[in-house]
Amino acid sequence: MGTFTLGKSRGQVLDMIPEWTINKIHVGEQVIALVRIDVNFHAFQTECPHRGTSLIHGSLTDDCEIICPLHYYRFDLKTVAGKVGSCGDLKIYDTELTDEGLKIFILSV
Ligand code: FES
Repeated sequence: MGTFTLGKSRGQVLDMIPEWTINKIHVGEQVIALVRIDVNFHAFQTECPHRGTSLIHGSLTDDCEIICPLHYYRFDLKTVAGKVGSCGDLKIYDTELTDEGLKIFILSV
């Protein structure tokens, strides 16, 4: 799909994206979820791989896992693997915080 840049500078991105919240971000015509923990960003698909519920309304654990609000399956944002529950892995997109903003690499949605 492509590379998208969020914001215009490192500082603007850090100001714009609060820590430990699940943010809904538009990248081109797609919508993805974005979580910031310190200066690390985790971008991932908004739909739960189990039954498609929006993970925007999920919750985060201290171990950087997102918990789906419907059946409480857990997904590790660091390793992409589903941790609790059986379904496919969560699609994760690489990110890179640069002086020009946050680069988000969308290979496929
Ligand atoms: S829809 Fe997310 S765990 Fe079932």
